[in-house]
Amino acid sequence: MELKDQIDRKKLPAHVAVIMDGNGRWAKKKGKHRIFGHKNGVTSVREITEAAAELGIQYLTLYAFSTENWNRPQTEIDALMSLLVSSLSAETKTLMKNNVRLLPIGDLKSLPSNVHKKFSSCINKTAGNTGTSLVLAIGYSSRWEIADAARRIALEVSKGEINVEDINSKLLSKYINTLEIPDPDILIRTSGEYRVSNFLLWQIAYSELYFTDTLWPDFRKDDFFEAILNFQNRERRFGKTSEQVG
Ligand code: FPP
Repeated sequence: MELKDQIDRKKLPAHVAVIMDGNGRWAKKKGKHRIFGHKNGVTSVREITEAAAELGIQYLTLYAFSTENWNRPQTEIDALMSLLVSSLSAETKTLMKNNVRLLPIGDLKSLPSNVHKKFSSCINKTAGNTGTSLVLAIGYSSRWEIADAARRIALEVSKGEINVEDINSKLLSKYINTLEIPDPDILIRTSGEYRVSNFLLWQIAYSELYFTDTLWPDFRKDDFFEAILNFQNRERRFGKTSEQVG
């Protein structure tokens, strides 16, 4: 039986988050420049978005560019930014065809204005789509997000709009970027690295972590389905005992 057909459609994760890693190493292995790896990573983005849409997964979040990525060589930053713009232009049609809605998380103000513009236009075009939401984390880091939430809460406290006693995890969740998006059920990281790299630190409190040695440009639908099957075989206890959840 195909991997896809082994997936229990009644036990799908509502939200899958992915740290797409290994583009540089993939290119190096082929004797090419890192940017060649990023370009090939776009094919994996398309495949995995399609796979999520085919399964009917509600949210797919991809870590496309972190706050720390601004420290990469300027040529690589420029190449990544232009790849984002060209991919958004080329893929908007496919997003429409697959009923996928694009959502952003991250500090959009930190992006060059052409990237910001392209991103906003694709978000607007796909806003009415009701299938999978593709959440792109760009100019994103979790510590930035949490600090930003703390600053905005402090501002409202100073204006008397929030009481200090009312600050709890529920309130903080409303101030972080993911707002109405449920926490990820599973976080996938490719390329054999076992880190979470400042990604969704608040939201992954109870996420299942899945690591694979596959480099991102080699990651295909079947790799995604394998991760979902692995997730479906886990017992999630959320701090309770096995007997309580069984
Ligand atoms: C990590 O590989 C990957 C990135 C920093 C960028 C991810 C971007 C893409 C896949 C392309 C564009 C994205 C979209 C959404 C269209 P790395 O460079 O850290 O690889 P390495 O660890 O092997 O050096």
